[in-house]
Amino acid sequence: MINYDAQEKIFHLSNGEISYSIKVLKNKKLAHLYFGKALPEGIRGNHFMHLEKTSLTVNYYKDDAKFSMQNIRQEFPEYGRGDFREPSILIERESGSQLTDLKYCRHQIIEKKVILDQMPCTFASEKEAQTLKITLEDKVIGLKVFLFYTIFKNKNIIARHVEIENGNKEKLFINRLMSASFDLFDDNYEMMQFSGSWSRERHVEVRKLSKGHQSVGSIKGCSSAEHNPLIILKRPETTEDNGEAYGMSFVYSGNFLAQVEVDARSVARVMMGVHPMTFKWKLDRKEKFTSPEVIMSYSAKGLNHLSQQLHNLYRENLIAKRWQRQKRPILLNNWEATYFDFTEESIITIAKEAKALGIDLFVLDDGWFGKRNNDQEGLGDWYPNFEKLPNGIKGLSEKINMLGLKFGVWFEPEMVNVASELFKENPDYIVGDPSRANSYGRNQLVLDFSREEVVEKIYTMMAKLLTEAKIDYIKWDMNRFITEPFSRKLSSDRQGEFFHRYILGVYRFLGKVNKNFPEVLIESCASGGNRFDPGMLFYAPQTWTSDNTDAVSRVKIQYGTSYGYPLSAMGSHVSAIPNHQVGRKPPLRTRTDVAYFGTFGYELDPRGLSLEDKKQIQEDISMFKTYQNIFHKGDFYRLISPFEKNTSGWMVVSKDQKTAICGVYRVLNEASSPLEKIKLVGLNPTQTYHVNDDRYSGMVLMNFGLLLNDYYGENNVVGDYYSKVFILKSE
Ligand code: DGJ
Repeated sequence: MINYDAQEKIFHLSNGEISYSIKVLKNKKLAHLYFGKALPEGIRGNHFMHLEKTSLTVNYYKDDAKFSMQNIRQEFPEYGRGDFREPSILIERESGSQLTDLKYCRHQIIEKKVILDQMPCTFASEKEAQTLKITLEDKVIGLKVFLFYTIFKNKNIIARHVEIENGNKEKLFINRLMSASFDLFDDNYEMMQFSGSWSRERHVEVRKLSKGHQSVGSIKGCSSAEHNPLIILKRPETTEDNGEAYGMSFVYSGNFLAQVEVDARSVARVMMGVHPMTFKWKLDRKEKFTSPEVIMSYSAKGLNHLSQQLHNLYRENLIAKRWQRQKRPILLNNWEATYFDFTEESIITIAKEAKALGIDLFVLDDGWFGKRNNDQEGLGDWYPNFEKLPNGIKGLSEKINMLGLKFGVWFEPEMVNVASELFKENPDYIVGDPSRANSYGRNQLVLDFSREEVVEKIYTMMAKLLTEAKIDYIKWDMNRFITEPFSRKLSSDRQGEFFHRYILGVYRFLGKVNKNFPEVLIESCASGGNRFDPGMLFYAPQTWTSDNTDAVSRVKIQYGTSYGYPLSAMGSHVSAIPNHQVGRKPPLRTRTDVAYFGTFGYELDPRGLSLEDKKQIQEDISMFKTYQNIFHKGDFYRLISPFEKNTSGWMVVSKDQKTAICGVYRVLNEASSPLEKIKLVGLNPTQTYHVNDDRYSGMVLMNFGLLLNDYYGENNVVGDYYSKVFILKSE
């Protein structure tokens, strides 16, 4: 899949679907030639690059007025030699100089996916991927840079990361290192970003590229609900099912920057990496640094196809093999049922009811440990509160298991309350500058996970519990942003490393749990979807998508999330009404029909359910179990956007196209409104599908669609918040 044309000095990565091409220039720097639909004949000649003399540009060579870094589309741009756009790398020497002059030295084609040191990354079997490693060197400062490009066989994906080695006598500082950058030929694109806030995560926003910078990022210590580390560039005419789009997704959970810079000649430089504002890394002689991984994807067939590339990659090449094979349990979480107010007895009663409904796993949320009776105390004391749970977690887990349920527990390992034994004994474990006061978020402080001993201390407490009790699932929460970023244990010249070291500490902890307790399923959470990213998915194959469990809000949140993440990654629960976040009262049918398109579970008190609701829930759970593989392994398609229309829809199709499930959601009802239909996609046009009592060909369903008014009940008096799930089965 990877070729090097030594005469033309051109690298060509291609898997028959996409091509990616890089040229070694005469100054031995790398030009970006092409990323897009496959060019089977390869790339030769100069027509991918145009060099011309322009006034006011600065030239690399005294005697070549045409050769200016400013006019060249680049692959790994540097600062200080004529390119005035933002660079991928900035290295500071002891002298204060930030100049580099990196030149191509050699390359290597590796017959597999390279795994990143200490960080989450995609993986692949030997035959599935090939990696190009290009070595650049700046001989003046003894700096080596290794650029990695992995191309996957059956996916439109290029995975990139960078490694750096200091071969110098003096120490160097990395002031900036983007994991991937490439220059698009023109700027006729729209940038899609997935932005929001607590309980309104990953709403789709689109802006047309214009000259200058457009970026999203985070300096909050986590990838954040405000902006997801995913951007898509699409042509203005691109739709869900047609047209060109590029995606960039960051396998990282900390501060990030995703940026497009359009220059004077409308070249669009796209880059993604650790946010340079909160990053400065010291490299002593012989030390190495590895950047996190960026996933680049391309589709010539619209946004659904682009998303499916990411879904397939994250399902098959990122989450642990074990969770690819095993079905996810349908869980009931007690948070919205009890909050902090529970006893062993009430939990057992809830669990019994849950079992009767068909639930697989009971999850005990916040409040079971230390002296935790509200959100002001107890964080950090990861041992049972024996007043609430006289038999501890071990005793409770046994009782829950006896009911025929699996058992899960909530943790918030990265945090501490001042009112805790942990803080009393180790007040210096926190993040913060001791010469200043700390800010508080949800009454808590952040533990300094950049420190090995802090990670170890919390891990030991958690491991004790996981060893003593039979725990099948952990909800790993994180409920505040990081402020006063300062580590008491880092030297002054390493304080700029704090944020990245913190995330490495989180990864180290998670990796240890995965290694030592591989059967424990982890669901990550950060006040809902405040850290929903591929980095966390590597360790925790599902993420609590949002604290907002309202079905109407969830359609938008899950729709936006689906641009980068598969349904099997999206924690989705049916909750009670009035909804606890927005007070809305959608029917149980609608709440269920939305939660189906995710991991599926419940977040309510089953003790208060009517017999009728209980019966419905039993049927709903059994329906989900029947089709779980299709929801979690099928191809997902967005059909009508809830950001644009009152009636929205999505669907999932089994890989063999024999079964499909389509969800339709209408927010408000209206009398005498235009008739509505939904066009399906991804079906086999020549197959006949049964839909309820009708039969239609795939062709009809995809070209005309399903006439929705037929399902709106007699005279359309079904009220607001209506939903319908269609199950299609081929003959
Ligand atoms: C925030 C989470 O998102 C909720 O689901 C719940 O676990 C609470 N934390 C508990 O404090």
